[in-house]
Amino acid sequence: MQPTVKPKNPNFSSGPCSKRPGYKVADLQLDTLGRSHRSALGKKALGLACSESARILGLPEGYRVAVVAGSDTGAMEMAMWSLLGPRGVDVLAWESFGSGWVTDIVKQLKLPNVNKLEAAYGDISDFSKVNFDHDVVFTWNGTTSGVKVPNGDWIPADRAGLAICDATSAVFAMELPWDKLDVITYSWQKVLGGEGAHGMLILSPRAVQRLESYTPPWPLPKLFRMTSGGKLTEGLFKGDTINTPSMLCVSDYLDALAWVERIGGVPATIARSEANLKVLSDFVAANDWISFLAKDPATRSNTSVCLTLKLGDEQVKKVVKLLEAEGVAYDIGAYKDAPAGIRIWCGATVESSDLQALMPWLSWAYQQVST
Ligand SMILES: Cc1ncc(COP(=O)(O)O)c(C=O)c1O
Repeated sequence: MQPTVKPKNPNFSSGPCSKRPGYKVADLQLDTLGRSHRSALGKKALGLACSESARILGLPEGYRVAVVAGSDTGAMEMAMWSLLGPRGVDVLAWESFGSGWVTDIVKQLKLPNVNKLEAAYGDISDFSKVNFDHDVVFTWNGTTSGVKVPNGDWIPADRAGLAICDATSAVFAMELPWDKLDVITYSWQKVLGGEGAHGMLILSPRAVQRLESYTPPWPLPKLFRMTSGGKLTEGLFKGDTINTPSMLCVSDYLDALAWVERIGGVPATIARSEANLKVLSDFVAANDWISFLAKDPATRSNTSVCLTLKLGDEQVKKVVKLLEAEGVAYDIGAYKDAPAGIRIWCGATVESSDLQALMPWLSWAYQQVST
């Protein structure tokens, strides 16, 4: 039987992700629009995007936060192009975005001493093989396989290399061991349901020390430059962006941060995401035709939840189309390079009640295409 109750909000995309509950564009503070981003007003908003992120995330003293161009990709490439080279590099990859960083390191930067620690979709790299005398590049949550790093126990406190972490689909939804990470990047468009185009770059004091003591042998575009005359450009970490940002997106991000604060901070956004995962876990436990792509339960993402169905590839596509046509779930097809399946975003902006409403529809769509 076709269910009657639909999710109130059918947006389950893994990026840009659903706006927060109660979001209204009209509620954004728009006094910065049409003004220079270098005006006192503009700089204050951009400075707040940095300082409020640090405060709400609880970053350790001395960690710096910048708004940069190019969303999470921009932040990661800025970091890799600026920092890599003086040591060997261990790069971990178990899905598409991690593999993209492998390509950057091996084929674009052409670094000579690289250890690739790769794993198939559903698995995770072998952390025991990581050499922390090297710089280590990895993704905290593999958005396209739904496999996350379970904890930071494998990262030594006394590492010689830098730990460079793409945490875009983890920040605000997962506990991160900040003191074990030297570079952390994310985008507003994921867990907070913000906008794309701008990236957040967080640097530990050790990363700053590297920036001030090492000049890469390759040319650095202006967009990537974080130092001047061998010193860190401190203004960048106080809202003095390298080029012009969208002040509308900045307002949208500040609105999202205020929401995080209102509902109880990062513990609350993590709890919302975990409660969302539980709705899916309960459903998977009760139905033998659907499984997590992530093999080890400890690595199951609580944001980008990837599921496989006991159906052929074309049937899975039909499920996705049916649910979209009914207006109950948008954008839940697996990522183009990932195994066939569905991916349901469970980040903090998604309501558990909407996921609960979606589950009977999943069963219905499965029945429709399998009979
Ligand atoms: C793990 C990961 N890294 C990088 C990206 C690229 O992010 P952006 O498009 O915000 O640059 C994504 C986007 O989904 C991602 O999930």
